[in-house]
Amino acid sequence: MTYRSSAPSSELGIRLPPGPRWPTLVQGIAFLSMQRRVMHGLAKKYGDAYFMQLPTFGPTVFIGDPALIKELFQTPTTVARGIEPNLSAILGKGSMFGLHGEDHRRRRKLLVPPFHGKRMRTYERLIEEETRAEIASWPQGTEFPVLPSTMRITLNAILRAVFGAHGAQLDALRELMPKIVTLGSRLALAHQLHHDLGRWSPWGRYMRLRNDFDRIVASLITQAESDPNLQQRTDVLALMLQARYDDGAAMSHSDVADELLTLLAAGHETTATSLAWAIERLRRHPMVLSRLVEEIDAGGTELLQATIYEVQRTRPVIEATGRQVIAPSMPLGDWVIPQGYTVIANIVSAHTSDATFPDAARFDPDRFLGGVPDSYSWIPFGGGTRRCLGAAFATMEMNVVLRTILRDYELTPTTAPDEKWHNRGIAFAPKHGGRAVVHRRAENAADDGTADWRAVGA
Ligand code: HEM
Repeated sequence: MTYRSSAPSSELGIRLPPGPRWPTLVQGIAFLSMQRRVMHGLAKKYGDAYFMQLPTFGPTVFIGDPALIKELFQTPTTVARGIEPNLSAILGKGSMFGLHGEDHRRRRKLLVPPFHGKRMRTYERLIEEETRAEIASWPQGTEFPVLPSTMRITLNAILRAVFGAHGAQLDALRELMPKIVTLGSRLALAHQLHHDLGRWSPWGRYMRLRNDFDRIVASLITQAESDPNLQQRTDVLALMLQARYDDGAAMSHSDVADELLTLLAAGHETTATSLAWAIERLRRHPMVLSRLVEEIDAGGTELLQATIYEVQRTRPVIEATGRQVIAPSMPLGDWVIPQGYTVIANIVSAHTSDATFPDAARFDPDRFLGGVPDSYSWIPFGGGTRRCLGAAFATMEMNVVLRTILRDYELTPTTAPDEKWHNRGIAFAPKHGGRAVVHRRAENAADDGTADWRAVGA
């Protein structure tokens, strides 16, 4: 549904920031074909806020200033809601991405506890196991992209920790999910293709994959519900099935299926691409790399956590997050934005501001050493009532995977140019997949380090 106020904009005191005066079609084509470059160029030209006409989202205000971002993230959900259209078109109407207002609040209340930072230690061992199994076959001394490996690690981590899958169902989901995620990412913004024109059409193919997914999830739910040890289980599916809304009702099975798909779609590629960027950055910063290895060998965690913060600042894999104005108007700094407009927090702009991060282009984990980043200028996980539900999970996972890789392998530095950004549909990855050269280390350090990722708790 699109919101439009019937009151004339003069009465509402509408005041929009400046923006390009190109014809709407040109703005749309420029944005779709060169999203990163256009967003960066316009932020440079117009500063903290600018206005554009976008395909799919219509009139849109982009902001990058932490003060405006803070205002946006603190805006009540009766004034601005989650963006429309959104990923629920792909993930199902039970997906949190498509819920608004009270429906969204109720669902989050149910799902926040399973993802709370304090619970994350439960999954460390499983993720270390998956990492070791994956990296055991890494080639030594020849360059290879790490992204396919990190994609498998993060997929298996979610299938085991979140879906609670094992055995034949785990194997079936391992095979199915990459196909769903790849096709789903391509269809995410192509709403005009969301028509089932038979099994060879993209949407028809997607629907058939989704049916296969629903069949496997239904059997996971049946098994869990008849599991006498359900209460002792630690996977998110088991917790979801036992959770109750305030009125005592449980989540419907179709909502559970939509949420499982949402958690996988939101958490698998984003974490995998962030890990690939971490490898890409570390190979180009040998001083940081050698200090990090020294710290990990000594069982420390501070620099590792600071490095993860800095990778996410300099290489955020999600570039922007948005809200839609549903009140007659929304004040935002000097601006007053009309109903129906989209407001986008430009994560890249916020992260590259020299005013907030001195010498922002420089990769310098020391800027975060011993501290926690500010919630409105460091926003790789978005913010406010819709902040990433899996932030603590992703942070724990990045800590464990990097620590395990650097304990088992020596990563060879490089003077090769930085890898460019590549748009995979939802997340931005290093163009060549984060190429690495590794050699197995003669002896591994003691297994006693745990990072302070709990500070990032959901
Ligand atoms: C490095 C990895 C990740 C990044 C960069 C990331 C980033 C984001 C961003 C930017 C948002 C939008 C927040 C907003 O609108 O303010 C989001 C939402 C979300 N993320 Fe993540 N995410 C990551 C990993 C995960 C993981 C591991 C999971 C779960 C397993 C997850 C689940 C979700 C969910 C469910 C939402 C929707 C929250 C809502 O609408 O209330 N994400 N994420």
